[in-house]
Amino acid sequence: MAASAHGDLAVARMRGLGFWTTTLRRCSILWASATFVWSFLRYGTFMKSVQFHNDGVPAIIQTQERLLDALLAKSVPVKMLCGGRGLCATCHVYIDKGADCLTPQTEREKLTLSMLTGAQSNSRLACQSKVLKDGLIVSLPRGLYVESFSDIEKLIGKRTTTPILHPVSGRVLIQENKIITRSAIGELRGVDFDVQQLNLNKS
Ligand code: FES
Repeated sequence: MAASAHGDLAVARMRGLGFWTTTLRRCSILWASATFVWSFLRYGTFMKSVQFHNDGVPAIIQTQERLLDALLAKSVPVKMLCGGRGLCATCHVYIDKGADCLTPQTEREKLTLSMLTGAQSNSRLACQSKVLKDGLIVSLPRGLYVESFSDIEKLIGKRTTTPILHPVSGRVLIQENKIITRSAIGELRGVDFDVQQLNLNKS
């Protein structure tokens, strides 16, 4: 008798669990569908195109995807040193046209941009900006971001073909068309320290 009561209880619990699992699943499907329809009604199509200044073929991404995803779709080698948290310079872009096609700047983005060398009134961090509408034209700061002092060290004896940029501040570390000498790069060791600080700030 006791065993039967336990069995009934277990069956009742299983049924209860099944009910809540099904309800949760239905709710999440309903939520996803509602978001999808809302997005369509508000922004038109589900896909958006992003044009890059130096490239005739636009990147196609989903509405509300990050501008960073458009960069990645175009195989732009974004270092994403902060992991897409709005803390570094490596996804900094300029919006040449269509600033209103993006979500507004977050406080984090505003703060980081205020500290970036080379930031302008049309600057955005691609990892913090979601694409809402067609009509964007984007260009990238000129230069190559390094990740560490050893990246710079590898270039000793070579002539730079593009400016070498600091990955956290966006500062030009070495101007274009310069031969990199060992004596000239001593002061650039600070890059490693700045990247370490960035990693501390990530958590
Ligand atoms: S990847 Fe670092 S700010 Fe966007």
